[in-house]
Amino acid sequence: MDFKRNIMVTGGAGFIGSHVVRLFVNKYPDCRVVNLDKLTYAGNLANLADIERAPNYVFVKGDITDLDQMRQVMAEYEIDGIIHLAAESHVDRSIKDPMTFARTNVLGTLALLQAARERWESLPEGYEGKLFHHVSTDEVYGALEMDGGLFEETTKYNPHSPYSASKASSDHFVRAYHDTYGMPTLVTNCSNNYGPYQFPEKLIPLFINNIRQGKPLPVYGKGENVRDWLYVEDHARALDLIFHKGKAGDTYNIGGFNEWRNIDLIKVIIKTVDRLLGNPEGHSLGLITYVTDRAGHDLRYAIDSRKLKNELGWEPSLQFEEGIEKTVRWYLDNQPWLDRITSGDYQRYYEEMYRGR
Ligand code: NAD
Ligand code: DAU
Repeated sequence: MDFKRNIMVTGGAGFIGSHVVRLFVNKYPDCRVVNLDKLTYAGNLANLADIERAPNYVFVKGDITDLDQMRQVMAEYEIDGIIHLAAESHVDRSIKDPMTFARTNVLGTLALLQAARERWESLPEGYEGKLFHHVSTDEVYGALEMDGGLFEETTKYNPHSPYSASKASSDHFVRAYHDTYGMPTLVTNCSNNYGPYQFPEKLIPLFINNIRQGKPLPVYGKGENVRDWLYVEDHARALDLIFHKGKAGDTYNIGGFNEWRNIDLIKVIIKTVDRLLGNPEGHSLGLITYVTDRAGHDLRYAIDSRKLKNELGWEPSLQFEEGIEKTVRWYLDNQPWLDRITSGDYQRYYEEMYRGR
C-alpha cells in the first residue's frame, strides 16, 4: 500500500507518545505511522493495544542513540516527518542517574537529527515536505517565583535538574540543525501532562494508585510547588496542529493556563478517588505524608501559550475538573493496567505480541 506520508513518532509506547500515535493512526488513515521505541521501563505496548493491528501502523523496536539503526529506519520506511518524543522523562530518576539522561536525551536526539539530515539531503527534493518536530518541556526555562509571570517562547533557558539540562541541550541541537544545515525543525515546550497511560511514578497516577491501595502519599517539601497541568489529549491535538501548520525554525509553548499548588491538587485527587470508590469524604486525607524535598525542586512552572492560540487557534478542550474526573475514573477502571506495571508483568507484552512476526 502506498502512503501519502510516512511519519515516525519516537517514544510512541510511552505516555504522551501513545496518545500521539493513536490520534495520527485514527485521523490519518492514508499516512503510515511508524512508532519507534526502545521499550525502556517507561515503554508499554499495552498502551496501544486498540490500534496495533491498524493497516497504517508499524512498531519498530529501536534505540534513538543507535545512529546506524536510525539511518536504516529512515530509509526503509521513507520517513518524511518525525515527531520526536523518545526520552528519559522523570526528574527523580535524572537526579539518581544523570548519565542515562545525557545519553538518551542529548546523544539520542543528535543521532536522530543526523540520520534525518543524511536521509533528506540525499533525496532529489531535499528538505521539501520534511519536518523534524522536537517535543520538549517547560522545565528548560527554569523556575518562576510565585509572582514571577509566565514562561514565554523568548524566556531565557535556565534548567536546574539533569533532566531539564538534557532536554535544554537537545533543544539547542535541534535549533542548530535548522540554523546550520537548513533542516526544517521546530520545537514545542509543554507544561505538565496528565491523563490515561501515565507511568505510575509521576505524581498523579502514583497518588491515585496509592490511595486505592491505602498507601502513604509522599508529598515533597511543604507541597507548595506549583505546576501547570494540561490533559494529555489536548497536548496531542496541539502537536498535530503544530506538526501540520507550524513554521519551521519556530518555537511554540503549549499549556492550558491551569496552575495548581501540589497540595491543593493532591486534595482534589483524594476527594475524587474517595468519591468514586464510595469512601466517606476525607477518608484518605490521612495518607498525606510530608517527605524530604526533591533536590533542586523548581518552585513554579507556568506556560504562556498565547502564541499558539493567536497564530494557530489552539485551545485546551477540557476544564481541569472534567479532566481530573476522567483521569481518576480511567485509572480506577483500568486497575489491571496499573497492576501489570507494578508487578513488572507489562514488559512481557512485547515478547508475547511480537513473537514470530
Ligand atoms: P515517557 O517516559 O512516558 O515515555 C518515553 C518513551 O520513550 C518510552 O516509551 C520509552 O521506552 C522511550 N524511550 C526512552 N529511551 C529511548 C531510546 N533510547 N530510544 C527509543 N525510545 C526510547 O515520557 P512522556 O511523559 O510521555 O514524555 C514524552 C516526551 O514529552 C519527552 O520527550 C518529555 O521530555 C516530553 N514532555 C513530557 C511532559 C510530561 O508532563 N510528561 C511534558 C512536556 C514534555
Ligand atoms: O513540566 C513538564 C514536566 O512535567 C515534564 O517535562 C516531565 O517529563 C514530567 O515528569 C513532569 O515533571 P515534574 O517533576 O513536574 O512531574 P512529577 O509528576 O514528577 O512531579 C509533579 C510535582 O509533584 C513536582 O513538584 C514534584 C511533586 N511530587 C512528585 C512525586 C512523584 C511529590 O510531591 N511527590 C511525589 O511522589
